[in-house]
Amino acid sequence: PQGQPLAGKRIVVTSGPTHEPIDPVRYIANRSSGKQGHAIASALAKLGAEVTLVSGPVTIPDPKGVSTVHVETAEEMKAAVLSQLPCDAAVMVAAVADWRVAGAADQKIKKQPGEAPAPLQLTENPDILKTVGHHAERPRFVVGFAAETQNVEANGRRKLEAKGADIIVANDVSPATGIMGGDRNRVKLISADGIAEWPDMTKEEVAERLACLIAEKLASSG
Ligand code: C5P
Repeated sequence: PQGQPLAGKRIVVTSGPTHEPIDPVRYIANRSSGKQGHAIASALAKLGAEVTLVSGPVTIPDPKGVSTVHVETAEEMKAAVLSQLPCDAAVMVAAVADWRVAGAADQKIKKQPGEAPAPLQLTENPDILKTVGHHAERPRFVVGFAAETQNVEANGRRKLEAKGADIIVANDVSPATGIMGGDRNRVKLISADGIAEWPDMTKEEVAERLACLIAEKLASSG
């Protein structure tokens, strides 16, 4: 129907940070709020898509009209995303922790009087976007994000290639921009066609425009 250009399309979206346990009570995390990813899931659903949102721990509510799966770690997020394949599109917005603690403790780590703190050993997390972008059941349209604090365009272009994405939505998350955790975003869309710079707008507006773009791409690729 009109206004529902994504009717019948299945789309998986990731959002929020991941929490990587150190022990049962402590974790490593980042400042992602989930606002942009949740807004995208919501905007896609409004265009008629059947959306599964795989969300890390956030304090914002589940979007309406979307099936939300809650996860904590990158490993859990990867499993939840892969369980959605095959699907029509994937939009990986989550700020997935690059590293997790190797051999997280089963019990709370106690401080030992007079002893130096135990060093944390880190190990690399799976790259979910890269896995999806190179998957045998790769969705027709794969969108990645790139949160950078410098060389936004160069890093975005490199990511497009390395991760097998059709588009990288790059933004500058330097603290002075207020983007991380804030309500507004200013993005550059990097694709094989070049770079499109969108002006500063709300995260909802970015989401609506991106959802329209995804609808166009899915319509033109059959
Ligand atoms: O390499 P970087 O973390 O900057 O890449 C960002 C993009 O890759 C985002 O789309 C993010 O959701 C995705 N990503 C991922 N799994 C990771 C790291 C990043 O899906 N382990």
